[in-house]
Amino acid sequence: MSDNKIQIFDTTLRDGEQVPGCKLNANQKVIIAKQLDILGVDVIEAGFPVSSPGDFKSVEAIAKIIQNATVCGLTRAVENDIKVAAEALKYARKPRIHTGIGTSDSHIKYKFNSNKEAIIQRAFDAVKFAKTFVEDVEFYAEDAGRTDNEYLARVCEAAIKAGATVLNIPDTTGYCLPSEYGAKMKYLKENVKGIEKAILSCHCHNDLGLATANSIEGVINGARQIECTINGIGERAGNTALEEVVMILKQHPYLNLDTNINTQYLYGISQLVSDSMGIYTQPNKAIVGANAFAHSSGIHQDGVIKNRATYEIIDPKDVGVTESAIVLTARSGRAALAYRAKNIGYELTKLQLDDVYINFLNFADHKKEINDDDIHQIIETSKVYNEIISA
Ligand code: KIV
Ligand code: ZN
Repeated sequence: MSDNKIQIFDTTLRDGEQVPGCKLNANQKVIIAKQLDILGVDVIEAGFPVSSPGDFKSVEAIAKIIQNATVCGLTRAVENDIKVAAEALKYARKPRIHTGIGTSDSHIKYKFNSNKEAIIQRAFDAVKFAKTFVEDVEFYAEDAGRTDNEYLARVCEAAIKAGATVLNIPDTTGYCLPSEYGAKMKYLKENVKGIEKAILSCHCHNDLGLATANSIEGVINGARQIECTINGIGERAGNTALEEVVMILKQHPYLNLDTNINTQYLYGISQLVSDSMGIYTQPNKAIVGANAFAHSSGIHQDGVIKNRATYEIIDPKDVGVTESAIVLTARSGRAALAYRAKNIGYELTKLQLDDVYINFLNFADHKKEINDDDIHQIIETSKVYNEIISA
């Protein structure tokens, strides 16, 4: 793997599916997994096999059919979880077990009623046990975002000694600032003995709206994998949105970090996940929201009609959206009206446009958005209609 390649680890089917009320059946999961493989993700976290017989079956079914991506199953640092995950993954071409344990003071004290040394031992034992089933073992230090760096480095060292290939550093509660999360990665890169044997992975939650920024800061500081979900779905405020981190790296080539993602499939898979889970995507969602390439103010519309790059940093076709939308509202100007009228067959002269525009404003003041049927009506009721159609 080249040192500037960022692995995309998709956890839509595991962390993403933890959204209340969004449970998918095995068939829906297989359909999404196939599309993730076509999208070009490097790893598909297919589920948490020990959590239910249904999840076990979905992971097994996905493991059987995926051709390119690594298929991964989550476990706790518990022998039975690991055995069950290994069983569910046994048909995978490239299986990965993702095991781990909480490492912050509050997890050690309240979740495990344990101490730091015992947690390091459990981390070591879990990875060692997982290695008896598969070569590729990812270790997660849950709540690493609130774990002090020196202790986290010791936990990571133990996981590497036991054979971990990937070290996942989750900001489980979405607490870190980008500068802190980036500094954590840098610290681990510089202080963990044996770090060259594993790659560091970002796993960020969005409780403060910083998941994407934290993941980007993580890779700028040495991580080489990002864990993310389609549309940023996930527990509470969600996870890092796959489409956001991928497009940030693509639109900033000077960072010299790229992914294997076929970005033209981003919009399609966003729709598939949102329809399958019944979760509506907010219209202003970056990259895949309904308004991500829609322009409604007159000044912006005039610019975009003259040259798309005036108000767009991404070509919509690059993410699978056919074209930018010029939305007609009472804030729109003549350029937008002429453009939309032309799209449905009316070529207006400047004087005709002046007249039709007066009609348009009267109409638009009473309606939120003007559609193509409205434009026909506006033109048909204008004083210059006969002149327009006889041209
Ligand atoms: O957020 C988290 O810490 C997780 C781990 C289980 C990887 O999802
Ligand atoms: Zn998570």
